[in-house]
Amino acid sequence: MQIQTDRVAWFEGGDAVCNTQPMVARAWRLILLGPPGVGKGTQAELLCAATRSCHLSTGDVFRAAKGLPECRRSPAIMAAQDAMGRGELVSDETVVEMVRERARCIRCGGGFLLDGFPRTVAQAGALDGMLENESVRLDAVLSYEMPIEEIVGRLSGRRSCPGCKAVYHLTGRPPKQEGLCDHCGTALIQREDDRPESIRVRMAAYEENTRPLADYYRSRGLLIPVSAAGTPDQILQRSLSLLGVPKAAI
Ligand code: AP5
Repeated sequence: MQIQTDRVAWFEGGDAVCNTQPMVARAWRLILLGPPGVGKGTQAELLCAATRSCHLSTGDVFRAAKGLPECRRSPAIMAAQDAMGRGELVSDETVVEMVRERARCIRCGGGFLLDGFPRTVAQAGALDGMLENESVRLDAVLSYEMPIEEIVGRLSGRRSCPGCKAVYHLTGRPPKQEGLCDHCGTALIQREDDRPESIRVRMAAYEENTRPLADYYRSRGLLIPVSAAGTPDQILQRSLSLLGVPKAAI
Protein backbone atom coordinates (compact mmCIF):
# COMPACT_ATOMS: atom_id res chain seq x y z
CA MET A 1 0.00 0.00 0.00
CA GLN A 2 1.32 3.45 -0.91
CA ILE A 3 2.00 6.13 1.67
CA GLN A 4 -0.22 9.05 0.67
CA THR A 5 1.57 12.26 1.69
CA ASP A 6 5.19 13.30 2.11
CA ARG A 7 4.47 14.93 5.55
CA VAL A 8 7.11 17.64 5.08
CA ALA A 9 5.02 20.11 7.12
CA TRP A 10 4.80 17.64 9.99
CA PHE A 11 8.48 16.68 10.02
CA GLU A 12 9.89 20.18 9.58
CA GLY A 13 7.23 22.30 11.34
CA GLY A 14 7.01 26.09 11.15
CA ASP A 15 6.40 27.38 7.61
CA ALA A 16 7.25 24.12 5.84
CA VAL A 17 4.64 22.99 3.31
CA CYS A 18 3.96 19.47 1.99
CA ASN A 19 4.81 18.79 -1.66
CA THR A 20 1.68 16.67 -2.12
CA GLN A 21 -1.70 18.36 -1.77
CA PRO A 22 -4.57 16.58 0.00
CA MET A 23 -7.38 15.33 -2.27
CA VAL A 24 -10.13 13.93 -0.08
CA ALA A 25 -13.89 13.55 -0.42
CA ARG A 26 -14.16 13.76 3.35
CA ALA A 27 -11.47 14.86 5.82
CA TRP A 28 -11.19 12.40 8.72
CA ARG A 29 -9.72 13.70 12.00
CA LEU A 30 -8.83 10.82 14.27
CA ILE A 31 -6.69 9.98 17.30
CA LEU A 32 -5.18 6.51 17.81
CA LEU A 33 -4.77 5.40 21.42
CA GLY A 34 -3.25 2.20 22.79
CA PRO A 35 -0.20 0.78 24.56
CA PRO A 36 3.27 0.84 22.97
CA GLY A 37 3.49 -1.87 20.33
CA VAL A 38 -0.23 -2.60 20.04
CA GLY A 39 -0.02 -1.65 16.35
CA LYS A 40 -1.00 2.05 16.19
CA GLY A 41 1.68 2.94 13.64
CA THR A 42 0.77 -0.06 11.48
CA GLN A 43 -2.92 0.83 11.56
CA ALA A 44 -2.12 4.51 10.97
CA GLU A 45 -0.32 3.60 7.75
CA LEU A 46 -3.26 1.46 6.55
CA LEU A 47 -5.97 3.88 7.71
CA CYS A 48 -4.25 6.82 6.06
CA ALA A 49 -4.12 4.94 2.77
CA ALA A 50 -7.84 4.14 3.14
CA THR A 51 -9.04 7.59 4.21
CA ARG A 52 -6.30 9.69 2.51
CA SER A 53 -5.71 11.54 5.78
CA CYS A 54 -2.19 12.29 7.02
CA HIS A 55 -0.29 10.25 9.64
CA LEU A 56 0.93 12.58 12.40
CA SER A 57 3.17 10.70 14.83
CA THR A 58 5.01 12.63 17.56
CA GLY A 59 7.43 9.72 18.07
CA ASP A 60 8.36 9.88 14.35
CA VAL A 61 9.22 13.60 14.65
CA PHE A 62 11.52 13.02 17.64
CA ARG A 63 13.19 10.04 15.97
CA ALA A 64 13.67 11.98 12.70
CA ALA A 65 15.43 14.79 14.59
CA LYS A 66 18.06 12.24 15.61
CA GLY A 67 19.40 12.34 12.05
CA LEU A 68 20.16 16.06 12.32
CA PRO A 69 23.69 17.29 13.13
CA GLU A 70 24.07 18.17 16.85
CA CYS A 71 24.25 21.93 16.12
CA ARG A 72 20.74 21.78 14.62
CA ARG A 73 19.22 19.93 17.58
CA SER A 74 17.75 22.21 20.27
CA PRO A 75 18.35 21.39 23.97
CA ALA A 76 14.63 20.47 24.19
CA ILE A 77 14.98 17.95 21.33
CA MET A 78 18.14 16.45 22.88
CA ALA A 79 16.36 16.09 26.25
CA ALA A 80 13.39 14.52 24.43
CA GLN A 81 15.66 11.97 22.72
CA ASP A 82 17.33 11.05 26.03
CA ALA A 83 13.90 10.48 27.61
CA MET A 84 12.80 8.35 24.63
CA GLY A 85 15.91 6.16 24.78
CA ARG A 86 15.08 5.35 28.43
CA GLY A 87 11.44 4.66 27.53
CA GLU A 88 10.17 7.66 29.53
CA LEU A 89 7.68 10.22 28.28
CA VAL A 90 8.96 13.50 26.88
CA SER A 91 7.78 16.50 28.95
CA ASP A 92 4.28 17.82 28.18
CA GLU A 93 5.78 21.26 27.59
CA THR A 94 8.14 20.05 24.85
CA VAL A 95 5.56 17.86 23.11
CA VAL A 96 2.81 20.50 23.16
CA GLU A 97 5.19 23.17 21.83
CA MET A 98 6.31 20.82 19.06
CA VAL A 99 2.70 20.15 18.00
CA ARG A 100 1.80 23.88 18.23
CA GLU A 101 4.63 24.59 15.77
CA ARG A 102 2.79 22.20 13.42
CA ALA A 103 -0.72 23.67 13.76
CA ARG A 104 -0.78 23.81 9.94
CA CYS A 105 -1.20 20.01 9.97
CA ILE A 106 -4.12 20.21 12.41
CA ARG A 107 -6.05 22.61 10.16
CA CYS A 108 -5.02 20.85 6.90
CA GLY A 109 -8.04 20.17 4.68
CA GLY A 110 -6.88 16.58 4.13
CA GLY A 111 -7.55 15.55 7.74
CA PHE A 112 -5.19 13.80 10.14
CA LEU A 113 -4.56 10.74 12.18
CA LEU A 114 -2.75 11.58 15.42
CA ASP A 115 -0.58 8.69 16.66
CA GLY A 116 1.17 9.04 20.05
CA PHE A 117 -0.39 12.41 20.86
CA PRO A 118 -2.04 13.18 23.19
CA ARG A 119 -0.50 10.87 25.75
CA THR A 120 -1.42 12.62 29.00
CA VAL A 121 -4.54 14.42 30.19
CA ALA A 122 -2.57 17.71 30.10
CA GLN A 123 -1.70 17.11 26.41
CA ALA A 124 -5.34 16.28 25.65
CA GLY A 125 -6.39 19.60 27.20
CA ALA A 126 -3.79 21.45 25.10
CA LEU A 127 -5.02 19.68 21.95
CA ASP A 128 -8.62 20.69 22.72
CA GLY A 129 -7.42 24.33 22.81
CA MET A 130 -5.60 23.95 19.46
CA LEU A 131 -8.63 22.32 17.80
CA GLU A 132 -10.86 25.12 19.06
CA ASN A 133 -8.44 27.79 17.76
CA GLU A 134 -8.42 26.14 14.34
CA SER A 135 -12.22 25.51 14.36
CA VAL A 136 -11.61 21.81 13.80
CA ARG A 137 -13.58 18.92 15.35
CA LEU A 138 -12.40 15.40 16.08
CA ASP A 139 -14.40 12.57 14.49
CA ALA A 140 -13.33 9.78 16.84
CA VAL A 141 -10.65 8.30 19.09
CA LEU A 142 -9.81 4.70 18.17
CA SER A 143 -8.53 2.86 21.24
CA TYR A 144 -6.65 -0.34 20.31
CA GLU A 145 -6.77 -3.03 22.99
CA MET A 146 -4.72 -6.18 23.57
CA PRO A 147 -3.17 -7.98 26.59
CA ILE A 148 0.33 -6.60 27.36
CA GLU A 149 1.99 -10.08 27.19
CA GLU A 150 1.00 -10.44 23.53
CA ILE A 151 2.23 -6.96 22.69
CA VAL A 152 5.81 -7.61 23.85
CA GLY A 153 6.23 -10.18 21.04
CA ARG A 154 5.16 -7.55 18.52
CA LEU A 155 7.76 -5.08 19.80
CA SER A 156 10.69 -7.50 19.89
CA GLY A 157 10.24 -8.39 16.18
CA ARG A 158 9.60 -4.86 14.97
CA ARG A 159 11.78 -3.30 12.27
CA SER A 160 11.24 0.30 11.07
CA CYS A 161 12.23 2.35 8.06
CA PRO A 162 14.19 5.47 9.06
CA GLY A 163 13.34 6.95 5.64
CA CYS A 164 9.56 6.85 5.17
CA LYS A 165 8.78 5.49 8.69
CA ALA A 166 6.97 2.35 7.47
CA VAL A 167 6.74 -0.41 10.10
CA TYR A 168 7.45 -4.15 9.63
CA HIS A 169 7.67 -7.30 11.73
CA LEU A 170 10.24 -10.06 11.21
CA THR A 171 7.57 -12.76 11.00
CA GLY A 172 4.16 -11.01 11.09
CA ARG A 173 4.74 -8.39 8.41
CA PRO A 174 8.11 -9.00 6.75
CA PRO A 175 9.34 -6.72 3.94
CA LYS A 176 9.33 -8.22 0.43
CA GLN A 177 13.14 -8.07 0.36
CA GLU A 178 14.84 -8.95 3.65
CA GLY A 179 16.06 -5.88 5.57
CA LEU A 180 14.83 -3.32 3.02
CA CYS A 181 11.77 -1.04 3.03
CA ASP A 182 9.10 -1.96 0.43
CA HIS A 183 8.27 1.72 -0.15
CA CYS A 184 11.67 3.43 -0.44
CA GLY A 185 14.34 0.70 -0.31
CA THR A 186 16.03 2.13 2.82
CA ALA A 187 17.75 -0.38 5.17
CA LEU A 188 15.43 -1.23 8.08
CA ILE A 189 16.50 -0.68 11.70
CA GLN A 190 15.50 -1.85 15.18
CA ARG A 191 14.37 1.00 17.46
CA GLU A 192 16.58 1.86 20.43
CA ASP A 193 13.58 1.85 22.80
CA ASP A 194 12.59 -1.72 21.84
CA ARG A 195 15.18 -3.08 24.32
CA PRO A 196 13.49 -5.09 27.16
CA GLU A 197 14.42 -2.54 29.89
CA SER A 198 12.96 0.38 27.88
CA ILE A 199 9.82 -1.62 27.01
CA ARG A 200 9.12 -2.11 30.75
CA VAL A 201 9.42 1.65 31.41
CA ARG A 202 7.20 2.49 28.41
CA MET A 203 4.45 0.11 29.56
CA ALA A 204 4.53 1.63 33.08
CA ALA A 205 4.36 5.17 31.62
CA TYR A 206 1.40 4.10 29.51
CA GLU A 207 -0.50 2.66 32.50
CA GLU A 208 0.11 5.73 34.61
CA ASN A 209 -0.28 8.56 32.10
CA THR A 210 -2.06 7.42 28.96
CA ARG A 211 -4.66 4.88 30.05
CA PRO A 212 -6.71 7.63 31.81
CA LEU A 213 -7.23 9.23 28.38
CA ALA A 214 -9.77 6.52 27.53
CA ASP A 215 -12.10 7.96 30.19
CA TYR A 216 -11.33 11.49 29.02
CA TYR A 217 -12.55 10.73 25.49
CA ARG A 218 -15.30 8.30 26.54
CA SER A 219 -16.90 11.10 28.56
CA ARG A 220 -16.86 13.26 25.39
CA GLY A 221 -18.57 10.54 23.35
CA LEU A 222 -15.54 10.08 21.07
CA LEU A 223 -14.00 6.79 22.23
CA ILE A 224 -14.27 3.70 19.99
CA PRO A 225 -12.62 0.59 21.53
CA VAL A 226 -11.12 -1.72 18.88
CA SER A 227 -9.72 -5.20 19.46
CA ALA A 228 -6.14 -5.34 18.15
CA ALA A 229 -6.24 -9.14 17.73
CA GLY A 230 -5.79 -10.62 14.26
CA THR A 231 -3.86 -9.56 11.20
CA PRO A 232 -3.25 -5.88 10.37
CA ASP A 233 -5.82 -6.11 7.53
CA GLN A 234 -8.46 -7.64 9.79
CA ILE A 235 -7.91 -4.85 12.32
CA LEU A 236 -8.10 -2.26 9.56
CA GLN A 237 -11.45 -3.64 8.34
CA ARG A 238 -12.72 -3.67 11.95
CA SER A 239 -11.63 -0.04 12.42
CA LEU A 240 -13.19 1.16 9.16
CA SER A 241 -16.45 -0.59 9.89
CA LEU A 242 -16.61 0.92 13.42
CA LEU A 243 -15.93 4.35 11.90
CA GLY A 244 -18.54 3.81 9.21
CA VAL A 245 -16.08 4.54 6.40
CA PRO A 246 -17.93 3.51 3.19
CA LYS A 247 -16.37 0.56 1.31
CA ALA A 248 -16.32 2.68 -1.85
CA ALA A 249 -13.81 5.00 -0.18
CA ILE A 250 -11.27 2.19 0.34
P1 AP5 B 1 5.84 6.36 19.77
O1 AP5 B 1 6.65 6.43 18.56
O2 AP5 B 1 4.51 7.03 19.80
O3 AP5 B 1 5.76 4.87 20.19
P2 AP5 B 1 4.70 4.03 21.05
O4 AP5 B 1 3.42 4.66 21.45
O5 AP5 B 1 5.54 3.48 22.15
O6 AP5 B 1 4.18 3.04 20.06
P3 AP5 B 1 5.04 2.21 19.16
O7 AP5 B 1 5.47 2.98 17.96
O8 AP5 B 1 6.14 1.51 19.94
O9 AP5 B 1 4.03 1.03 18.77
P4 AP5 B 1 2.77 1.04 17.84
O10 AP5 B 1 1.54 0.89 18.65
O11 AP5 B 1 2.81 2.16 16.86
O12 AP5 B 1 3.00 -0.35 17.14
P5 AP5 B 1 3.54 -0.71 15.67
O13 AP5 B 1 2.49 -0.41 14.65
O14 AP5 B 1 4.91 -0.14 15.47
O15 AP5 B 1 6.65 6.99 21.01
C1 AP5 B 1 7.98 6.64 21.27
C2 AP5 B 1 8.51 7.50 22.41
O16 AP5 B 1 8.46 8.89 22.02
C3 AP5 B 1 7.72 7.45 23.71
O17 AP5 B 1 8.11 6.37 24.51
C4 AP5 B 1 8.09 8.81 24.32
O18 AP5 B 1 9.38 8.79 24.89
C5 AP5 B 1 8.14 9.73 23.12
N1 AP5 B 1 6.85 10.39 22.84
C6 AP5 B 1 6.18 10.36 21.66
N2 AP5 B 1 5.03 11.05 21.74
C7 AP5 B 1 4.99 11.54 23.00
C8 AP5 B 1 4.02 12.33 23.69
N3 AP5 B 1 2.90 12.74 23.11
N4 AP5 B 1 4.28 12.65 25.01
C9 AP5 B 1 5.42 12.25 25.60
N5 AP5 B 1 6.36 11.50 24.99
C10 AP5 B 1 6.14 11.14 23.70
O19 AP5 B 1 3.60 -2.29 15.80
C11 AP5 B 1 4.57 -2.93 16.65
C12 AP5 B 1 5.07 -4.21 15.94
O20 AP5 B 1 3.97 -5.13 15.83
C13 AP5 B 1 5.57 -3.98 14.50
O21 AP5 B 1 6.66 -4.81 14.25
C14 AP5 B 1 4.36 -4.40 13.62
O22 AP5 B 1 4.77 -4.86 12.34
C15 AP5 B 1 3.75 -5.50 14.47
N6 AP5 B 1 2.30 -5.60 14.27
C16 AP5 B 1 1.42 -4.57 14.16
N7 AP5 B 1 0.17 -5.03 14.01
C17 AP5 B 1 0.26 -6.39 14.06
C18 AP5 B 1 -0.68 -7.44 13.98
N8 AP5 B 1 -1.99 -7.20 13.82
N9 AP5 B 1 -0.25 -8.72 14.10
C19 AP5 B 1 1.07 -8.98 14.26
N10 AP5 B 1 2.04 -8.03 14.33
C20 AP5 B 1 1.63 -6.75 14.24
